[in-house]
Amino acid sequence: MWPNAGVQRRYALLPALMLGCAPAGDAGDDELGLRAVAEFIDLDPSPDRVRIAVVATEATVEYLPGKPTSVWAYRDASDDQALAQVPGPVLRAPLGATIEVELRNELPDDTTIHWHGVRLPAAQDGTSTAQVAVAPGETFTYEFAAVDAGTFWYHPHVEADVQIERGLYGALVIEGDDALEVEHDRVFILDDVKLESDGSLSADTEALDLMLGRQGNVLLVDGQRRPSIAAQANTRERWRFVNAANGRYFSLRLRGAMMRVIGSDGGLLPAPMVTDTLLVAPGERYDVLVEFADAVEDLVLETVHYDRGHNVPDPGPLPLIDVFVSGGTAQLTALPTMWGDIPALPVDDATPQRELVLTEDDEDAAAPRFFINGAQFPEGDPVMVDEGALEVWTLRNDAEMDHPFHIHGLFFQVLDADLRPRVELGWKDTVNVPRESSVALAVRFDNPGEWMMHCHILEHAERGMMGMLHVMP
Ligand code: C2O
Ligand code: CU
Repeated sequence: MWPNAGVQRRYALLPALMLGCAPAGDAGDDELGLRAVAEFIDLDPSPDRVRIAVVATEATVEYLPGKPTSVWAYRDASDDQALAQVPGPVLRAPLGATIEVELRNELPDDTTIHWHGVRLPAAQDGTSTAQVAVAPGETFTYEFAAVDAGTFWYHPHVEADVQIERGLYGALVIEGDDALEVEHDRVFILDDVKLESDGSLSADTEALDLMLGRQGNVLLVDGQRRPSIAAQANTRERWRFVNAANGRYFSLRLRGAMMRVIGSDGGLLPAPMVTDTLLVAPGERYDVLVEFADAVEDLVLETVHYDRGHNVPDPGPLPLIDVFVSGGTAQLTALPTMWGDIPALPVDDATPQRELVLTEDDEDAAAPRFFINGAQFPEGDPVMVDEGALEVWTLRNDAEMDHPFHIHGLFFQVLDADLRPRVELGWKDTVNVPRESSVALAVRFDNPGEWMMHCHILEHAERGMMGMLHVMP
């Protein structure tokens, strides 16, 4: 009972050859076509205001054909026809607009919405310090300005390891001067779920789920298992990737086509970066331009093994999206020459430095604990800084596995070994800190308030690898 079976079938018929092209043996179980993720209805006619209404609710989806899965999901409350789906609708807003979101909680538990990556007022951040969580049956209205163009996402900040895993997440796209002329601008939210053979979300939590963040046995793109898309030769598409998984690292590879990374967490990069593989850690976003050559084979976007520590075995490449390219008369247009403008933060030897040490204690494998500077959240003192201050932070990972670290409410720049900003990586709000090594950041504290910072492996955040940052006005 796929909610949008009709739409799905229509997409599946697009390239007539699609069925024949599907890899032998897989054709039966794989989704064909990509169900387009709906966008929220904007209730405000004025261009500088986007007003939406969303319900968080229990729902049923079909990750595996014929096997319903009970999930928690977002539904557009303004659309009578809309079903709750995973991911939630895309929230698209123009740069500079005010975004107003009424959240109604129809879940059996408290929830909130956190706007990951958005530089908003602290009271709108959706964390447990920013607000009292929205109780079942209650509503809460968020309001903030869209101050940066880029790819962001939204998700609860209450029991995030449970609630996001159950399906509560969606994309927020802010469009401005970063608009590019492309054939398609697509959002691909990557996730994985651990399913039982009857399709239900597994209720069993193993030690490894806690240690690594739950890694599912079914990979999802926009809530669908191995969807396919039809592309045209000699065209260029923009793919916006969001990693919404609890713990899985996606290392993306698209053999036979060029991937040009043009944006990261905070918007456009100063110049595109061509790459074969693109690591997307939990919480991170990347915008990529993909070009299809004239005589291109049918392509598969896959995720290849990335060694994140703790001897996670290599399962070999895992397919995410089939791309069926058909010939045509299109002519590839010239690439833009103007990209993001990212001034380097002025750090030098005199810039105050601070160290955050990430550690884990897995002596009791069934109850691993995670720490920042020896404190397991909510223990530990907040980091106190003055508004406007600039600091160099060293994230030192003493653990045996990588930790993707996220700071709320602001962007930072990653520094090289000589503490020079790597502006080529763009503005970041989440950065992977490889095991037993360090990553240095330059951070300007230009947004006052009490912010959270944490590992974006959700099981780690919920088991202590989280801290508070007070930016004092
Ligand atoms: Cu996406 Cu505090 O997180
Ligand atoms: Cu972690």
